[in-house]
Amino acid sequence: MKNRIALVGGGRMGGAMLRGWADLADTMDFVVFEPTPSAEIAKLIEQHAWTLNPDPKGLAPFDCVVLGIKPQHFTIVCDQIVHDLVDEQTIMVSIMAGIGTSKIAEMTHVQHVIRAMPNTPGQIGKGITAYWCVPNVPFRGQALAIKLLSPLGRVEKLQHEEQLDAVTAVSGSGPAYVFLLAEAMAAAGEAEGLERGLAERLAWQTVIGAGALLAQSGQSPQALRRAVTSPEGTTAAATEVLTEGGGIFTLVRRAIEAAVLRSRQIGK
Ligand SMILES: NC(=O)c1ccc[n+]([C@@H]2O[C@H](COP(=O)([O-])OP(=O)(O)OC[C@H]3O[C@@H](n4cnc5c(N)ncnc54)[C@H](OP(=O)(O)O)[C@@H]3O)[C@@H](O)[C@H]2O)c1
Repeated sequence: MKNRIALVGGGRMGGAMLRGWADLADTMDFVVFEPTPSAEIAKLIEQHAWTLNPDPKGLAPFDCVVLGIKPQHFTIVCDQIVHDLVDEQTIMVSIMAGIGTSKIAEMTHVQHVIRAMPNTPGQIGKGITAYWCVPNVPFRGQALAIKLLSPLGRVEKLQHEEQLDAVTAVSGSGPAYVFLLAEAMAAAGEAEGLERGLAERLAWQTVIGAGALLAQSGQSPQALRRAVTSPEGTTAAATEVLTEGGGIFTLVRRAIEAAVLRSRQIGK
C-alpha cells in the first residue's frame, strides 16, 4: 500500500519538495494544501493526479504530514487542516523556523515529530537540511522523512534539538553571507575603476565558480585557497588583509554568534 503524505504549504520550500516527490509517486500518494499554488505547482499536482485543497474532514490518517508554512500560520493551520489529518501513528515533519518539537507536538496532537532546517539553495535541490527527530519516532518514520526532505539537497541528522540554533546560523542564514561577499567584491571592483555591470559579473561568477569547484574537486576550502595563493602574490596580499588580527574569522564568528542568539530568542 502507498504511503499517504500531506503537504501543508506549497510555497518556495514546499514547492521544491513537491517537484522532487514526483520520483516517489510509485510508493506515495500526495495531498497538498496550498491556498495560492503557482501555475507550475498546480500543473504538477494535476499531472500526477494528486489532490489539491480537499476538505480535510474525514481524510485521516496520513502516514506523514509535512508543514511547509510560515510560523505565523501555524495555529490556524492546526485548527483548520492538521487536526483532521492525523492519528497517533502520523509523523509530523516541520520546516518552520523557530517552533520547537514540544510546541509542535502540543499544537498538532502528534507525538512523532521531526523538525528540519533547510536553506534557500534547497529551492533548486542544492541546499542542505539538518533535522532533529524526537526519540520516539519509529525508524520507518525517520526514513520516510529523509526521503521527503531529500529533494532540497543533502540531509544531516542532529544529536540534540538545541543544535538547530547553530544550524540556522550557519547554513539557514548562510547563503546570505555568501551573497554579501559577492556584493562586497563587486562594490570593490567598481571602486577600482571597473564598470558596474562588469564588476558584478566578475564577482558573481567567481562565487558561482568557486562553489562549483568546491563541490566537484573533493578538496577542502583551505586546500583550494592555498592552491591559488602564491607567496608574495596578489591573493596573499588580499588574504593578509582579510585575516589580519583574526579578521574575517573573528567577524564571521561574531556574526554567527549573533544569529544563534536571535534564533534562541525567536524560539522562546
Ligand atoms: N526559505 C528558506 O530558506 C527557509 C529556510 C529555512 C526554513 N524555512 C521555513 O520554511 C517555511 C516555508 O518557507 P518558504 O520560504 O517556503 O515560505 P513561502 O514561500 O511563503 O511558503 C509558505 C506557503 O504556505 C502557504 N500557506 C499560508 N497559509 C496557509 C494555509 N492556511 N494552508 C496551507 N498553506 C498555507 C502560503 O500561501 P500564501 O502565499 O497564499 O500565504 C505559502 O505558499 C517557513 O516556516 C520558513 O521559516 C525557509
